[in-house]
Amino acid sequence: MGVAAVLVLFLASFAASAEASALHLKGGVVVNADQETLADLLIDNGKVLEVGPPGSLMAPDAEVIDASGKYIMPGGIDTHTHLDSLFMGQNTPDDFFSGQAAALAGGTTCHLDMVMPQKGGDILGGYARYREAAKRSVMDYSFHIVITHWNDQVEEAMGKLVEQGLQSFKFFMAYKGKLQVSDELLAHAFRRCRQLGAIPLVHAENGDAIDKEQQRLIKAGITGPEGHQLSRPPIVEEEATFRAVMFANLANVPLFVVHVMSRGAMEVIAKARTAGQRVIGETLASAIGLNQSLIWSSDFTTASKFVMSPPIRTEEHRLAVRAGLAGGALQLVATDHCGWTSAQKALGRESFLKMPNGVNGIEERMHVAWQQLINSGLASPSRFVEVTSTAAAKVFNLYPQKGVIQAGADADVILLDPNAEHTISASSHHSKGDINIFEGNKIRGKVVMTISQGKVVWDGSSLHVQRGAGRFLPRPAFGDLYKGLDERDAIRSAEMYPYGPVPVKRDLAALHA
Ligand code: URP
Ligand code: ZN
Ligand code: ZN
Ligand code: ZN
Repeated sequence: MGVAAVLVLFLASFAASAEASALHLKGGVVVNADQETLADLLIDNGKVLEVGPPGSLMAPDAEVIDASGKYIMPGGIDTHTHLDSLFMGQNTPDDFFSGQAAALAGGTTCHLDMVMPQKGGDILGGYARYREAAKRSVMDYSFHIVITHWNDQVEEAMGKLVEQGLQSFKFFMAYKGKLQVSDELLAHAFRRCRQLGAIPLVHAENGDAIDKEQQRLIKAGITGPEGHQLSRPPIVEEEATFRAVMFANLANVPLFVVHVMSRGAMEVIAKARTAGQRVIGETLASAIGLNQSLIWSSDFTTASKFVMSPPIRTEEHRLAVRAGLAGGALQLVATDHCGWTSAQKALGRESFLKMPNGVNGIEERMHVAWQQLINSGLASPSRFVEVTSTAAAKVFNLYPQKGVIQAGADADVILLDPNAEHTISASSHHSKGDINIFEGNKIRGKVVMTISQGKVVWDGSSLHVQRGAGRFLPRPAFGDLYKGLDERDAIRSAEMYPYGPVPVKRDLAALHA
């Protein structure tokens, strides 16, 4: 992060946030997932008060914001981030303050962070640590809880967490010997999620196959970042995605597949959806915005920037996934923001096995998605809103508090100028890492204002955030994705057990006669 950016961030953190005044946005195009309309918008007390035809709203005391020539859209929701996290022995540079400030500067106003396990596996204790760390928050947030082992206490803890408003649990099918769970655990946990009305999330890669490939490559002397790439080909992602989808079908539970990076995995999801299964595919800004070419750079620092799991793939995969996101094969785009410093990446200089996996994106996602979906002609602004905000709110039961601009919704709103041009760079970003995977990317379309909880927190060049202003969002279980599942259970049961779910009576004694 550049010195100027540091200064802005620090000044911002101490400046008292502007008194909450009503805002009157005039002359913009209000975009929701279902339509765009020329409309004015009144915001008061952290909420959208009214949306009406141009010139129709009266609010003499409100601060007027000229939105002409701009899109007014729901703030972005990032369904996948790692802030203030310990992963692969390293602490992420971004905490809830710096990561969220960066998010706001990029038009994201809400996120769901991964609660990674504590040493010793205390799930409730681990969750409490994240709640504490999130007291620094500057925007609204919630959590997914990562489960890495299984016993009665875990099942019980899952129930308690659901009661506290957590309704999503994440399972890693990779990172063998560390985070990876067995098929047995998945099968059991999916049933438990079904019971609780919760949504299982999977990191779908075959960790056993990857482990074998890693040993083979290291033996062959391929120890650089390209070894990471070669050890995780698309097929290991596709296989694990298929397995997770089948297990979810078995348990009749909705499934959320995080970071879909390859065409094959996307097609598995699309096929399941076509068959009526409730599978949600999340792709990433890195998947639609970048290909793997720089992993092969002879400059170690450059190559190491892009090491993440599953890997950023070839141009063929990028184009397929981007089109799938635009066209509906995939449902939303997140970041998996887990940015590292170049010094942390250099821990893997002797072996890619020691390099912290992960990339930045929380600040860049909205701009990358706009560039890739809108400027490519693949999608409408409404579809952009759907995949960056509305779908996330619906899947994770935050809708219509979030994900839509309508009376009564939270006033998390962005203004995007479709003609403003800018270039992404680590020298001007607000995350703490000194590297940016989108370095040099030219973007047409810029978030020139972010409103969070009804206050202007980003004015296009400076942040005006307040430490502690962010709120934890409880999310009830049995959301929209659960509607109808009981009926589906009953129908499937009737098909499987034509005479009821009871054993067939047989006269075994007759066998011995
Ligand atoms: O490489 C990645 N994706 N790092 C973050 C952890 C994960 O797998 O989501
Ligand atoms: Zn059980
Ligand atoms: Zn992952
Ligand atoms: Zn992740």
